[in-house]
Amino acid sequence: MISTLPLSLLTTLLLSLSTLTAASIPPATFLNSDYVNNQLISFSISTTTGETITNDNTSPIVFMKYNSSDPFSRLMLSEDSIADFMSMSDFPSKTTFVFSAYTPSDLSTLQSLLPSSPNILISFSLDTIDTLLSNSWTSPILTLSTPQTTTTRLDCYYGSCAWPDEQNIDLPLYNGNSGCSISDYPTNTSSNGYVIIYPNGNCSPTDAAKVASKLSVNVVVVQNEGEELELINSSDDVDGLNIIATMIGFSDGTHIIESFETIENDYVNVTLSYDVVPGFFASVNAGGRLLEVGWEKIPTLKMLGWAAQWLEYKSNLDNKLAEEEALVVPIFEEDLMQEAASVTMTFPFSESELREEGFNSMKIEFALGCDGGLDQDCSIWDHCITLTADCGGGEEKFKNEPGGATDEVGRWVTSFRRGVGHFLTDASPLFKKIFANDNTDTPPTCTFKIQTEGEPWRATLSLRFTKSADKTEPLPTQTLPIVYENMETKFAGKNYNENRTFEFDVPEGTTKVLLHAIVTGHGECEFLPSSHQWVFNENNGTVFSSSDIAYSSYMLAGTPFGCANRTVEGAVPNEHGTWYYGRGGWCDGMDVKPLVFDVTSEVEIGASNNLRETRTAAVATS
Ligand SMILES: *[C@@H]1O[C@H](CO)[C@@H](O)[C@H](O)[C@H]1NC(C)=O
Ligand SMILES: *[C@@H]1O[C@H](CO)[C@@H](O)[C@H](O)[C@H]1NC(C)=O
Ligand SMILES: *[C@@H]1O[C@H](CO)[C@@H](O)[C@H](O)[C@H]1NC(C)=O
Ligand SMILES: *[C@@H]1O[C@H](CO)[C@@H](O)[C@H](O)[C@H]1NC(C)=O
Ligand SMILES: *[C@@H]1O[C@H](CO)[C@@H](O)[C@H](O)[C@H]1NC(C)=O
Ligand SMILES: *[C@@H]1O[C@H](CO)[C@@H](O)[C@H](O)[C@H]1NC(C)=O
Ligand SMILES: *[C@@H]1O[C@H](CO)[C@@H](O)[C@H](O)[C@H]1NC(C)=O
Repeated sequence: MISTLPLSLLTTLLLSLSTLTAASIPPATFLNSDYVNNQLISFSISTTTGETITNDNTSPIVFMKYNSSDPFSRLMLSEDSIADFMSMSDFPSKTTFVFSAYTPSDLSTLQSLLPSSPNILISFSLDTIDTLLSNSWTSPILTLSTPQTTTTRLDCYYGSCAWPDEQNIDLPLYNGNSGCSISDYPTNTSSNGYVIIYPNGNCSPTDAAKVASKLSVNVVVVQNEGEELELINSSDDVDGLNIIATMIGFSDGTHIIESFETIENDYVNVTLSYDVVPGFFASVNAGGRLLEVGWEKIPTLKMLGWAAQWLEYKSNLDNKLAEEEALVVPIFEEDLMQEAASVTMTFPFSESELREEGFNSMKIEFALGCDGGLDQDCSIWDHCITLTADCGGGEEKFKNEPGGATDEVGRWVTSFRRGVGHFLTDASPLFKKIFANDNTDTPPTCTFKIQTEGEPWRATLSLRFTKSADKTEPLPTQTLPIVYENMETKFAGKNYNENRTFEFDVPEGTTKVLLHAIVTGHGECEFLPSSHQWVFNENNGTVFSSSDIAYSSYMLAGTPFGCANRTVEGAVPNEHGTWYYGRGGWCDGMDVKPLVFDVTSEVEIGASNNLRETRTAAVATS
């Protein structure tokens, strides 16, 4: 016999509103519907090295069309950005990156900057992809205008600053001199206005922004003469500069500053907006279908690398799903989760039949989608998604919000405004929560409920039963939910570790005991590195710790790129918010990977046992 102990520890209390402002980079305007996501496209592209690229429907292609008048694109092609891209860990080497440009001079810039590599090709024309980018998938170029001047701008790194709203019209802009010291700044700026500063080499743009941050004033930083716009970015902390900061070039900046000499008021009106121009990015997946690459959030070529890593992950997943022998039980098919979708169904087979056929594994395939053809149509926030199964087990339920009930069998998190998540999560230890009938010849009847909060998303979900060669144990014969006396969910709470023990019997004949835990930190725990441990029968010498099997999922919470690092595991890249920060056991647009330990050696068979859970959290530094 096999017993399995699922631990569903909910920690969800607050929505993870991890961005400073809801609005940020504006959406590209969808001009017509000639090309929509996911359609097959054909093209024939001649490269500068004489090759011809067609859609071969077997490996991903990522396209970038360069416009050097866009500061964001220009930074993506900087030397540092190219070097970072080329040295990415897990470089997506199955993907072809095809670059083109809107002008001959930008094309020769690409030729001089890009390294020669079999993965990186340059072309004069992108054939039908050009039509797509010119007519359908446009891009935004951020602008700043005063009555006298309109110029392009580069916003501070979203990891350090707040973003301006998509359209900020007629806000007062005051003269802030060099901006390097507090005394430079005017005293009566309005709280939603801006101050224009021109460090002119006396301090770095980032240092000037730090001074402004102390005064809580939003700044427009004028770059030094002869220098390209650079990214304002404070390494001090996540969200380190609590202001909006943006940068413009020297000559337009000087023009604006000179205008202060001739005006009656002590301010001019400024508008932060964007131009819609022919698009910069597109991709084609391994199946030959068009896909967006996501939102422009970080001006680095790694943006395309993350997109490609995800396309390769997705291709591997699709191949696995197609090739693996599986008994598939569809449960949800593009069902709307706002707040919940639920279905009651009777399985077409019984536990005995599954076992007789040799199935030893139960996985959940989940696809996250949204209505509308493009990412811009998807909801903007990140929320927990939880799947519960009520199959007549009659167990105690406990939770505060989606996630954490004792009948939870899977947990995911929505993405910031991208509709492409697709995940396969092993849930074998929870088998007996679903096949809960005492009579194993009777197929179970279950009510499955999938829910998230507040915003509409579409759920497509099925259970997949497989015969996995890498599994040594059969499906479990018992699944016990663990309920503590103390169900405090805040990792940071000082009583979290008290009374967190559980007594359980292990029947005679049991051959294996697994512990299965779904642990995520939200609200004040979202960016808190943590470690979760279990000991059995007070044998403090043997500790099962999340840090041993999933260190980076929990201990990289709060790091700048902890989740960007997980696109290879299926985290949706290039979302509309701060998707890239590490989080407590989860990432935006990803499944929560259960923590599974084989604890057989620590339990006494045919006897009563106890387990104790403890949590250690790093001290919050902010
Ligand atoms: C700024 O814009 C507001 C609103 O459009 C307008 O009322 C105000 O007169 C403008 N101020 C200046 C100095 O142009
Ligand atoms: C700011 O202060 C100056 C001088 O005290 C005054 O002339 C000006 O009207 C003030 N501006 C605003 C927008 O309050
Ligand atoms: C911001 O600065 C930090 C620290 O120097 C660095 O790790 C990070 O990569 C920078 N972010 C970007 C987007 O350049
Ligand atoms: C390139 O960017 C500039 C600056 O915003 C814009 O005026 C121009 O239309 C863009 N060209 C293309 C082809 O996107
Ligand atoms: C733990 O249990 C003790 C004894 O029952 C009780 O006094 C205490 O309040 C409990 N603490 C928590 C956090 O549940
Ligand atoms: C194990 O650790 C707990 C918590 O530190 C402690 O209360 C308990 O006495 C220890 N048990 C043994 C057998 O050392
Ligand atoms: C990214 O993940 C790799 C392992 O896949 C790890 O070695 C590396 O430290 C991680 N980097 C960051 C920035 O999290």
